[in-house]
Amino acid sequence: MGPRSPVTTGKVELEDVQGIVRSGYGTLPEAVFLILTITDPASAKEWLASAPVTHAAFETQIPRALQVALTAGGLRRIGLSEEALSTFPAEFKSGMGDESRARRLGDLGPSAPKSWTWGGPENAPVDVVAMLYAGAGALSDWRRLVETPAFSAGFHLVRELRTGLMDGREPFGFADGLSQPYIDWTHDPTSHENDEYHYHDRIAPGEAVLGYTNEYGLVTDRPFVQPKTDPRGLLRSFVGDDSRDLGANGSYLVVRQLEQDVSGFWQFLEGVGGSREAAEQLAEKMVGRTRSGTPLSPVESKVPPGQEPSNAFDFDGDPEGIICPLGAHIRRANPRNADVPGGTQSRLSGLLRQVGLPPPGPRTDVTASVRFHRILRRGRKYDPLHEINDTSRGLYFVCLNANIARQFEFIQSAWLESSKFHGLTNESDPIVGSRVPLLDGSRTDSFTCQTDGAPIRIESLPSFVTVRGGAYFFLPGLRALQYLAALS
Ligand code: HEM
Repeated sequence: MGPRSPVTTGKVELEDVQGIVRSGYGTLPEAVFLILTITDPASAKEWLASAPVTHAAFETQIPRALQVALTAGGLRRIGLSEEALSTFPAEFKSGMGDESRARRLGDLGPSAPKSWTWGGPENAPVDVVAMLYAGAGALSDWRRLVETPAFSAGFHLVRELRTGLMDGREPFGFADGLSQPYIDWTHDPTSHENDEYHYHDRIAPGEAVLGYTNEYGLVTDRPFVQPKTDPRGLLRSFVGDDSRDLGANGSYLVVRQLEQDVSGFWQFLEGVGGSREAAEQLAEKMVGRTRSGTPLSPVESKVPPGQEPSNAFDFDGDPEGIICPLGAHIRRANPRNADVPGGTQSRLSGLLRQVGLPPPGPRTDVTASVRFHRILRRGRKYDPLHEINDTSRGLYFVCLNANIARQFEFIQSAWLESSKFHGLTNESDPIVGSRVPLLDGSRTDSFTCQTDGAPIRIESLPSFVTVRGGAYFFLPGLRALQYLAALS
């Protein structure tokens, strides 16, 4: 038996999961992400063994937090064997800056990894990220406590990603952090019968935490090690197998530095629209929400009650994209129930389902397939005061998922970057698309607003977002961190 061992049900061991899986620490406005190279593995492990890493079992508001995650290179450098590394997924091992991944992710032209300031082939190796969060004015003290002599001896600081005060708006000026799936921590699949036919925001724990049931009813593949490497018995064993579960209670963390050309964005839209008001309307169509966050969606929604009001909508009532364009950022990033022609709720398919028959035609797999491609977003925006160039603005896009290829990479490549989406051609995501022509020369720089009449098509949309760095990290559970710190 291997990593697809039988389903683990029941409560997630929150005290062994890093807290960022449960919270974006919205009450801690100051944060810095330290991008590190391991210079002395022994000191790095000494630091890891005693680092005050925050777990997810907090009951009340916490005053500060520390999270630690490692790249494949970092795991290798602290002594994880090649045999154990081979049990990690291919995309994690090759890394975000790998050439073939860059094409898939749209990291081309000015966003190509060779131009990155960290995480690219020309930069110092990225081994570890330490993420520190604190209350207003408390970050420097927290840093002093975390950066012990072992830390200074063990790591070289490659880049310090200092985040700005959180005001709920991303740099283009739109309310951000609104739509977020929530984890059903005490997952009981039998209590949600027929859920798969409706769009909702609940996800099984295995979509974000390794070692638990995911939306397929399976335990997501995860890394494992040989028992002899774990003499202290820190890791749990696989059911029916004596391998030790290195992945349990861990997750994969994606970090991308996305620079935003804020003045270029508004200048272009004003040029096309002819006025600030028209520019705002167009920008809202591109995002799919008003600047204050109200979704462009039909008033009537079939989303179950109890869901956040700003999120209780789907696109069933707007199949043509007349209210929210088919290619709007929120529609590409999460098509809700609109990735299946006709939505998920037609009367015919409902009736067929009731009598136990599959729905007809291309909709046989109508299990609101978006639930296999959800991510937990944990990003923050740049702190302009701490950037080298103090006019630069942007986001440190951070997300968590249990399967980078199926979740983050699928959203980024098949939905956001793809020039073919929902019947559209020659366009990519109007906010984050790279707009680089395809290999056959086809353009990807249009944006279409569907209307009651002829669609309005905007051509030659410039690229407003440039990738400046990025990496894939493994965010171990707390016991797995101790295991890694004890490697010889
Ligand atoms: C600088 C780049 C980006 C900007 C300015 C941006 C902006 C926004 C805004 C304003 C929203 C709507 C508010 C909300 O629901 O939080 C949103 C939603 C979202 N974005 Fe982005 N975003 C960026 C990059 C990305 C990337 C790279 C991804 C994924 C690969 C992504 C995935 C999502 C998702 C999943 C949603 C929620 C959609 C929904 O469920 O309705 N975004 N983004």
